[in-house]
Amino acid sequence: MPSVYVTRKAHFNAAHRLHNPNQSDEWNRATFGKCNSENWHGHNYELDVTVVGEPDPNTSFVVDLAELKRVIAERVVEELDHKNLNLDVPFLQGKMTSTEHLAVAIWAQLVDHIPGGRLYEVFLRETPNNSVTYRGE
Ligand code: NI
Repeated sequence: MPSVYVTRKAHFNAAHRLHNPNQSDEWNRATFGKCNSENWHGHNYELDVTVVGEPDPNTSFVVDLAELKRVIAERVVEELDHKNLNLDVPFLQGKMTSTEHLAVAIWAQLVDHIPGGRLYEVFLRETPNNSVTYRGE
């Protein structure tokens, strides 16, 4: 049977600030620029969640996309949408809120809850020009 990759898209809006509390304010300003600005800033994040598996002989699907949509909504979008990533999100507590960290944290939220096939990739776009990919490695 072939392996087929299935992708479900989601999006959320959130505020954050890049700041390393172990470094000086000067270092933070020099390193993070506008992303260090004290009073937060926002992004329109776009998330692609890709699952891989073999199509089920009965349904012909790798994964029920309605179920996958529900899992992503409950475990990711409702946790992040219209939140301050530095302050409001239990699974990001104590972490710097880079797109890299966010993608890894989203992976952890989803990996044991995929309703068919297995999680292959989390692709997270922070801006039209900046995105990250995490495959659990
Ligand atoms: Ni930012």
